[in-house]
Amino acid sequence: MSAIHRLPELLINQIAAGEVVERPASVLKEVLENALDAGARAIDVQLEEGGVRRIRITDDGCGIARDELALALERHATSKIASLGDLECVGTMGFRGEALAAIAAVARTVLVSRAEGAAHAWRIDSEDREPAPAALNCGTMIDVADLYYNTPARRKFLKTEATEFAHCDETFYRIALARPDVDMQLAHNGRVLHRLPPGDARTRIAALMGDDFLANAREIRADGALRLTGFVSLPAYTRNRRDAQYFFVNGRHVRDRLLAHAVLQAYADILHSSRFPAYVLFLELDPANVDVNVHPAKTEVRFRDSRGVHQFVFHALNRALSESDAGRAEPQMAVSSPGTSLPPVAAAPGDAARYPLPVRPPPAAPGRTVMDAASQAYFDFTARARPAATAQSAAPALEPHIPPAGSGDAPLGYALAQLHGIYILAQNAQGLVLVDMHAAHERILYEKLKAVLDGTPAVQRLLIPAVFAASPTEMATAESRAEVLLRMGFEISAAGPRELAARSVPALLANAAVADLLHQLLGELGEYPASDVVTLRRNELLATMACHGAVRAHRQLTVPEMNALLRDMEATERADQCNHGRPTWTQLTLEELDRFFLRGR
Ligand SMILES: Nc1ncnc2c1ncn2[C@@H]1O[C@H](COP(=O)(O)OP(=O)(O)OP(=O)(O)O)[C@@H](O)[C@H]1O
Ligand SMILES: [Mg+2]
Repeated sequence: MSAIHRLPELLINQIAAGEVVERPASVLKEVLENALDAGARAIDVQLEEGGVRRIRITDDGCGIARDELALALERHATSKIASLGDLECVGTMGFRGEALAAIAAVARTVLVSRAEGAAHAWRIDSEDREPAPAALNCGTMIDVADLYYNTPARRKFLKTEATEFAHCDETFYRIALARPDVDMQLAHNGRVLHRLPPGDARTRIAALMGDDFLANAREIRADGALRLTGFVSLPAYTRNRRDAQYFFVNGRHVRDRLLAHAVLQAYADILHSSRFPAYVLFLELDPANVDVNVHPAKTEVRFRDSRGVHQFVFHALNRALSESDAGRAEPQMAVSSPGTSLPPVAAAPGDAARYPLPVRPPPAAPGRTVMDAASQAYFDFTARARPAATAQSAAPALEPHIPPAGSGDAPLGYALAQLHGIYILAQNAQGLVLVDMHAAHERILYEKLKAVLDGTPAVQRLLIPAVFAASPTEMATAESRAEVLLRMGFEISAAGPRELAARSVPALLANAAVADLLHQLLGELGEYPASDVVTLRRNELLATMACHGAVRAHRQLTVPEMNALLRDMEATERADQCNHGRPTWTQLTLEELDRFFLRGR
């Protein structure tokens, strides 16, 4: 080891930059926040090659005076705080005086700014740091080119242009959501991708999250010591990934487990745990009650009264969501009304056609067990016949759906009826069989879908491609994993800057809600290199596909369909456990029933 010595300034800054400038998107975040702190009303962003080649931002904020330009690029130089007291109640996005120094240490940086009242603008760059006269109407232009040009080791960690752009887009998206009052525009490689005029929160959210989100969302307005505003999706409109969850604290996008937990808890009774709500929420509180200085990228915060915040958020959402009793009413409605989010019933060849799952009218009175006419007649008949015959001996003769003699020994028996659109009731030699139809179908599909991952799927071409909104990350994954997807039977291509179209799906999944399925699949595929994903994530991928392909609760099945499902269960290995490890069926024997009813004592 050599003697202890002081590091040169540039190296200090380059080391510090490791914390602040992780990738182009972090540069974009810092310079956007600076523009907002400067009071900008309009911000223009131009990116080249995913932001690696260039990030150029122009704002119409207050500008920087000539004599402060050099200081702006130095570490620990800021106009935003001056004392510990200020740090304890930060009202600006920036406060450390770190960002520009870090950026200037790892990229060719040019700053052009015209302070309010100045005769003309001044320019400075990260190389010579001497202000020179320049032209600019007002505000500030910062140009960050060739990120990591002088730190090649870090450059190696950059991902593809599409991925880096996706991160930049996400950063822009979050800030645009938080600041609907600011005119914001973003172009990539010369193409304008977002043009967002100033407006109110609702308009901005519609422009970014889509009208369908707003149409299926409940507005939140809760006021007190804290203030919570925004929109949360109704339980019928949920996603299977956490990709549409935005929480802002005093205008800052944060990922906070406490807040996420409070939201999920408000949905706990009305949402299946593998589904995620979509939301955009803004929490405002006295800056003195929240510490923003806990994370290098400022993406985490710490609340002085975290319990109080949790309670406040939970109650505000819980109240709003229960007002409609939406969670219980709407999935029921969805069964009958055309044009809802239920997938169309496709007549696919092969296995998919075995459960055509026709959509039937919902029960006349909510909560009533639905049976088809034949089962109804059977029940009426047995009810009248009961005093004369025991269930065991009478039923086979009376049951109109029991197949001809000789096949009557099926272990899982024969379907009697469907209970609340969730369970199949079947009769076998021992007594009553109860089947969770979704879980059971999921298990069967899981086994059959193995062929899909081996790249030998029967493919169903869609007459009308399924077009759905996709995030930039999903767009990038669909492109980079196109080959894997195709091998699995999914033919997917871009249909617009934020839209994907599926032209074919594996035939086994012809009945699935394609958009939901692909949102989740793309999320899983994106996490691993293409070459490894099918081996490393095999079980997850199978489970995802099976879950989406399996018949949903509240679909009314006919007795022959239920019997087909029972036969498939018998033929499937480990059919008694669903892919989540939950049981798929259970048996209530006649002895147990007799014991319960104190018969024969
Ligand atoms: N677009 C801009 N318009 C006006 N002033 C700016 C702009 N960008 C930076 N500045 C000035 O340069 C200073 C340094 O910016 P920098 O981002 O490095 O630090 P900061 O914003 O104060 O803190 P942080 O490191 O937390 O972002 C700011 O305090 C501000 O005075
Ligand atoms: Mg800053």
